[in-house]
Amino acid sequence: MKVNDIMDINKIRKDFYVLNNNDLAYLDNAASTLKPKQVIDAVTYYYEKLGVNIHRGVYRLSYEATDLYEKARQKVAELLNCQFEEAVFTRGASNALNLIALSYGMNHIEEGDEIITSELEHHSSMLPWQNVARAKKAKLVYVPLNEENKITVENFKKVLSNKTKVVALNYISNAMGYMTPVEEIIKLAHEKNAIVILDAAQAVPHIPVNVKALDCDFLAFSGHKMCGPTGIGVLYGKYNLLKEMEPIEFGGDMIDYVGLNEVTYKDPPYKFETGTPIIASAIGLGRAIDYIKAIGFKDIMKHERMLRDELIDKMSQIKGITIHNPNTDTGIISFNINGVHPHDAASVFDEENVAIRAGHHCAQPLMHCLNEIATIRASVYFYNTREDINRLVKAINKAKAFFENFM
Ligand code: ALA
Repeated sequence: MKVNDIMDINKIRKDFYVLNNNDLAYLDNAASTLKPKQVIDAVTYYYEKLGVNIHRGVYRLSYEATDLYEKARQKVAELLNCQFEEAVFTRGASNALNLIALSYGMNHIEEGDEIITSELEHHSSMLPWQNVARAKKAKLVYVPLNEENKITVENFKKVLSNKTKVVALNYISNAMGYMTPVEEIIKLAHEKNAIVILDAAQAVPHIPVNVKALDCDFLAFSGHKMCGPTGIGVLYGKYNLLKEMEPIEFGGDMIDYVGLNEVTYKDPPYKFETGTPIIASAIGLGRAIDYIKAIGFKDIMKHERMLRDELIDKMSQIKGITIHNPNTDTGIISFNINGVHPHDAASVFDEENVAIRAGHHCAQPLMHCLNEIATIRASVYFYNTREDINRLVKAINKAKAFFENFM
């Protein structure tokens, strides 16, 4: 039975042990998504049937493990529409974004150069460049956010200059769910010969992302936010950029030739994958990509937007709620119950088995723009239902009623 008009949610939900084993309205998908049994089975297969290292073993089990690992990379390449060699496995999006700053940034940024970022960034998109700017005496320039705290092309143009060397922005904001107008920003940045790095941790799980059409120079995302295992992420980079970049970690598996005083490295992506690769998690990510593609981004987007509209509509009818992003582009909604600390509200929600995130969402500068110390963030994924939304609304009313006694 279709309970949510767009997809067969009841069938999909059966794939998620956490949903089957808990009476839970899980609305913290921007922090991490749940993992379907197909992904867990793929990881288990590696551990139970193979369990060996890759790239090195001259025996059947190692060949099969290597094949599964590299097939996962091929799936990433197809998902992003990039070349196989342009998909580097990392420990996550943060790890990928740091790699770009430490390798490309530290070797290309010079004193007086400008790096554009924004107050809407996750710390992982901003801090690696704060570090580069400090080390190289470069200037970090923030795109002024508009009245809704969005990044606009108009405001981007105000900070773009001949000194701009790097633009590091989110594709979709983890705290506000806004989609950055990246197509236009990338074109404008390239006219100034600046490179563009996209933090796509909240984009790749939810919308089709085509790096060739976008023409971004680098892009990063995490596996665990798209039904994959933790500890795996991807750095996409244009091949010519990856080829000339220095590795930031040195050791096994990434070398071509080692002498006592010299070394040559493998070509990308391998020169960035030092040591034993993240084999099981990469295989799990490959399976997660298959799983999500089988559902389809068109339906995922439609479903998330339907739930978003329903939640915003219901929350708008409750007095004493501030919704910070009523025009969110995605299923991420940030709000406060006026006069109630988000952590207190979250504790009441937890009593109702409603899981959301309360805090600064690794975006502290944004909290200053919102004039809040923290917000409550609900974030949906394709397995959420209208019932989950109703449970959150009920929990909000319960928290409001409880704390009104103390106001
Ligand atoms: N980056 C994750 C979030 O937005 C943890 O919650």
